[in-house]
Amino acid sequence: MSILLNEVKEMHQQVIEWRRHFHKHAELSFQEFETSDFIEAQLHSFGNVEVSRPTKTGVIGKIYGKEAGPTIALRADIDALPMTEINDLPYKSVNDGAMHSCGHDGHTAILLGIAKMFSSKTELLKGTLVCIFQHAEELPPGGASEMVNSGVMEGVDEIYGLHLSSNYPTGKFGVVNGPLTSATDSFDVRVIGKGGHSSLPEQCVDPIVMAAQIVLGLQNIAARRISAYETAVLSVCQISGGDAYNIIPGEVLLRGSVRTFSKELRNKMPEMITEISNGIAMSMGGRCEVTYTRGYDSVINDVALTDDARAAIADYFGEDAVLEIKPVMPGEDFSAFTEAANCPGTFIEIGTRNPEKGTDRPHHNPSYLMDEDGLYYGLGLFTSLIEKKML
Ligand code: NI
Repeated sequence: MSILLNEVKEMHQQVIEWRRHFHKHAELSFQEFETSDFIEAQLHSFGNVEVSRPTKTGVIGKIYGKEAGPTIALRADIDALPMTEINDLPYKSVNDGAMHSCGHDGHTAILLGIAKMFSSKTELLKGTLVCIFQHAEELPPGGASEMVNSGVMEGVDEIYGLHLSSNYPTGKFGVVNGPLTSATDSFDVRVIGKGGHSSLPEQCVDPIVMAAQIVLGLQNIAARRISAYETAVLSVCQISGGDAYNIIPGEVLLRGSVRTFSKELRNKMPEMITEISNGIAMSMGGRCEVTYTRGYDSVINDVALTDDARAAIADYFGEDAVLEIKPVMPGEDFSAFTEAANCPGTFIEIGTRNPEKGTDRPHHNPSYLMDEDGLYYGLGLFTSLIEKKML
């Protein structure tokens, strides 16, 4: 069945135009004022959409079917990144220092396209379609948890999200059961010693030597404390301390990030970091203060819903379009809609990689380009899912 595939084709051009509008007017996380006003105005113009603003820059569009059925949420993130685009495009961002280099302009346009298509089909629709235009995915604590706290997930039975990705070829859909993205945490270790003259170390407690050993000690977490069947990345990315070549400083600050997939392992990380840092510092006469900050939860794809997505993709684009992928390390606050709101969901990667068009460049890069054919596949995925579940 692919009743609506022709409508998807017809909607593609409009979605490209919307995407270029959002691209040109890129706005940073928590500051998506024009973007959210534009979304709201479009949703109102479609008719049959109940529009609300649960947060300052987040927008919800609800479409009620004439018949009873499930409440299904679709989520798009709407924010851009703090960088200046180096591509010369007619729709290059007019806002200096803000660029849609992650593809959220595309996600937003796709979801508008879906809202437009189904706002004219309430007679056929069974259940309620909730279109979530979420602000601030890029900046922890993120907009998703704010939206969940404002109650947008009440009564939602299933949620779906997507991300355009230059990691996979255009026309392919990256799916995975279980963990898709890692949990993204950070930590600070304040290494506290006693400063003094470089020529008299015996009168000091040298935090630089302690910090050096702590950096190496922390590497043992991934190498020696975690099963080979589990995955964790711990990177110390910042060391600051000291002002002169002949003064032993009093303190050194280490900062780093931790990526994990399993909840159990994640919960153990703060203790292991504290234990190693304190142990090393104490053995040398100093001490540490460790601060562990939990970022986004891991996105965990529900197996049944992911199977539904596989079937939906196969219906519209054939089984070959389904690409079984490995989990990815970048974080994603879509997890708030599933974990915090305790709702089953799945998140699909939509390929946009086409070297001939130069769309194989990485995301979060000032030269990022999108293969807009990916918008068609994103629209197709959501449409096929709605067709399966709500028509
Ligand atoms: Ni993104």
